[in-house]
Amino acid sequence: MTKKINVAIVGLGFGAEFIPIYKKHPNANLIAICQRNEKKLNEIGDAFGIEKRFTSYDELLKDPTIDAVHINTPIPDHGIQSIKALKAGKHVACTVPMATTVEECEEIVRLTKEKKLTYMMMETVVYAREFLFMKELYDKGELGKLQFIKASHQQDMDGWPNYWPGLPPMYYATHCVGPVLGLMRSEAEYVSCFGSGTIREELHHHYNSPFAVETAHIKFRNSDVSAHVYRSLFDVARQYRESFEVYGSKKTVEWPLIEGKPLVVHTAKKPEPEIPEEVECPDYAKLLPEPIQGFTKQGVYDADDHQHLSFIQGGGHGGSHPHLVHAFVDALVNNKVPYPNAVQSANITCVGILAHESALQGGIIMKLPEFTLSN
Ligand SMILES: NC(=O)c1ccc[n+]([C@@H]2O[C@H](COP(=O)([O-])OP(=O)(O)OC[C@H]3O[C@@H](n4cnc5c(N)ncnc54)[C@H](O)[C@@H]3O)[C@@H](O)[C@H]2O)c1
Repeated sequence: MTKKINVAIVGLGFGAEFIPIYKKHPNANLIAICQRNEKKLNEIGDAFGIEKRFTSYDELLKDPTIDAVHINTPIPDHGIQSIKALKAGKHVACTVPMATTVEECEEIVRLTKEKKLTYMMMETVVYAREFLFMKELYDKGELGKLQFIKASHQQDMDGWPNYWPGLPPMYYATHCVGPVLGLMRSEAEYVSCFGSGTIREELHHHYNSPFAVETAHIKFRNSDVSAHVYRSLFDVARQYRESFEVYGSKKTVEWPLIEGKPLVVHTAKKPEPEIPEEVECPDYAKLLPEPIQGFTKQGVYDADDHQHLSFIQGGGHGGSHPHLVHAFVDALVNNKVPYPNAVQSANITCVGILAHESALQGGIIMKLPEFTLSN
């Protein structure tokens, strides 16, 4: 008989995008949903035919039929809700970041070990088609020796929910740190970060953070490679961009400056004008079970049945959503370790938290704590 995992989704803004994917995954039952607003909860429950509905997260955790929770609540809740779920004996998938303090990350790592439960941070970029393309080139040796990695995430967050105003850019750094560490499955050993520029005065008090841009260098553990990541959230004129670039001895892949343009692949030792080549990134739906392959493409969020819920949101973060669901479910069904697991998620998330500490202290080197390292 096919083994199935009973999943509950918590938080139904961004979280609702995952409902149709779990529903179609051959090894998952989406058995419950949870959010505080009952009206919206019922609208979504009715639209997708989900009977179990909770307005209280604590009540949901008491349900013994739920094996795993997928948390998509506001950033300050991720750490505490993951800790509660692990204490209740549930496996956890949680949207980024893992938590906002080093202490919460440590507790999540400790609990996964103590309870022998699976934790996965649902970082979209490490399952986006562009990342999968660069990882395939790296794994096949086509990049040659890897020399440097660079990533950025710039977004204008004016008008977003109340936990965003003034957020230190590096508190939400996983979309840059995730891919730079994820390519070679590296661990960060230490980080140094500078703040640059100043956001408008009224935003400072939320997190006591004045920086418009935070720009960090990451030293990898047991490797000669290092990475540069930079982020901005307010008062910087820049189109939304989550870029990721790899520099190898044979090939380099650079992100386009304007979203929607092709990647640029540079090949060494060609005649100068032939070195760069624009390349359309392939899709990696082939890696997924057939029933969820369609979710990597534009306009597939059950558009025919549920148009009113507006699931058609471009390619959905590089087509990553079904890959994330599959990685989590596959890990639970087949006793695998998902990427990134609790320790790896802690390493990725703590780079951001410690980078901000470094920026506040003029760029001093901050070492990643032991619990974020694999051994
Ligand atoms: N690319 C990505 O990885 C990506 C993209 C978008 C959002 N996100 C993350 O997803 C999360 C949610 O983003 P959003 O834009 O949907 O936020 P939102 O504030 O619009 O929605 C949050 C949802 O969580 C629910 N919620 C809040 N507190 C709750 C509680 N205590 N118990 C149960 N439900 C609760 C709310 O009712 C709502 O449904 C954020 O942490 C954000 O960082 C990640």
